[in-house]
Amino acid sequence: MSRVLYLLGTAAPPVMEFPTVVANAQSRGWEVCVGLTPTAARWLGTSVEELAELTGYPVKSEYRLPGDSDGWPRATAAILAPATLNSVNAVALGLTPSWPIGYAVEAIGRRARLVVMPCVKDTMAAHPQFPKSVETLRAAGVQVLLGPGGFVPHASGQAQPYPWGAALCAAEET
Ligand SMILES: Cc1cc2nc3c(=O)[nH]c(=O)nc-3n(C[C@H](O)[C@H](O)[C@H](O)COP(=O)(O)O)c2cc1C
Repeated sequence: MSRVLYLLGTAAPPVMEFPTVVANAQSRGWEVCVGLTPTAARWLGTSVEELAELTGYPVKSEYRLPGDSDGWPRATAAILAPATLNSVNAVALGLTPSWPIGYAVEAIGRRARLVVMPCVKDTMAAHPQFPKSVETLRAAGVQVLLGPGGFVPHASGQAQPYPWGAALCAAEET
C-alpha cells in the first residue's frame, strides 16, 4: 500500500524549492499531495501547475466549495514547511484561514502524524508569541523541527540551506 505525504507550504523562500522536494519525497517512496497557502501559491506562480503534474493531484490552497469532492487520498503523514511565523501561530491558535493551515489544525485534533518545520528570521522568532506557539504544538504531539537538527533561526540575509532532509526523515518515523 502506498504511503501518502501531504506537503504543505507557506510563504517563506524555501517554498520555491517545492518541485525538487516533491521529487525527493517521491524517490523515497512517498505519494505526494501539495497544499500551499494562498500567498505561497502566488509566489510559485506557474510552478503550481508543474506541482500538480508532478504529483498527479490538484494543488490545494483555498477551501473547496460545499459539495465539491476532496480529490486526495488519505494522508499517512503531513509536513508543514516552510512554516512562516504567521502560519505557526495560526496553527497553534487553531485558526483556519486557508486549507493547508486548516488541515494542520485538524490533524492535531485527530492526533495524526504532523511535522512542522518553521522558517523565521531571528527577529521574528524573538516575538513572544513564537516560543509559546512552538510549545503549544509540541505539547499537542506535533513534531516541531526547530533548533539543532532542524531549522535554526537566522539573521536577515544569512539564510542557511533549509533542512528538507530532516523534515522528510521525521515524516518517515512511526
Ligand atoms: C521575500 C519575502 C521573504 C519572507 N520570508 C519570510 C520568512 O522566512 N519567514 C516568515 O515567517 N515570513 C516571511 N515573509 C513574510 C510572509 O510571507 C508573510 O508573513 C505572509 O503573510 C505569510 O503568509 P502565509 O503564512 O499565509 O503563507 C517573507 C516575505 C517576503 C516578501
